[in-house]
Amino acid sequence: MVGKDDFVQGFVPNHNHGSVDYTSVNNGHVHLCLDVTSPPVMIKDDNHVHYTEGYVVFEDGHTHYYQAYSGPAIPVGNGMHVHYYDFYTTEANGHRHLVKGVDQPAPGNK
Ligand SMILES: [Fe+2]
Ligand SMILES: [Fe+2]
Repeated sequence: MVGKDDFVQGFVPNHNHGSVDYTSVNNGHVHLCLDVTSPPVMIKDDNHVHYTEGYVVFEDGHTHYYQAYSGPAIPVGNGMHVHYYDFYTTEANGHRHLVKGVDQPAPGNK
């Protein structure tokens, strides 16, 4: 039995990533972005990205939708990897927000 903190060599075909981040400040407010990605989407060089879509948390009377792909897997040691993401939400109330960060490490060193 391999636990999530044990070293995992190679790729785990079925995993997703969680993340908790604030959007950029626009019009004097931020939104929390609580996200869970799709399973891996394979790309070249035996790497993978994750698709994600959803709504940021309601704030200041509105929400925003987003659809984005993460960057490729980056190994961070201990058999885990992360992905960067960097995208804009859709517009609402005449503004949009930037969401930028790193997701939670998931098992597999690639
Ligand atoms: Fe991943
Ligand atoms: Fe907003």
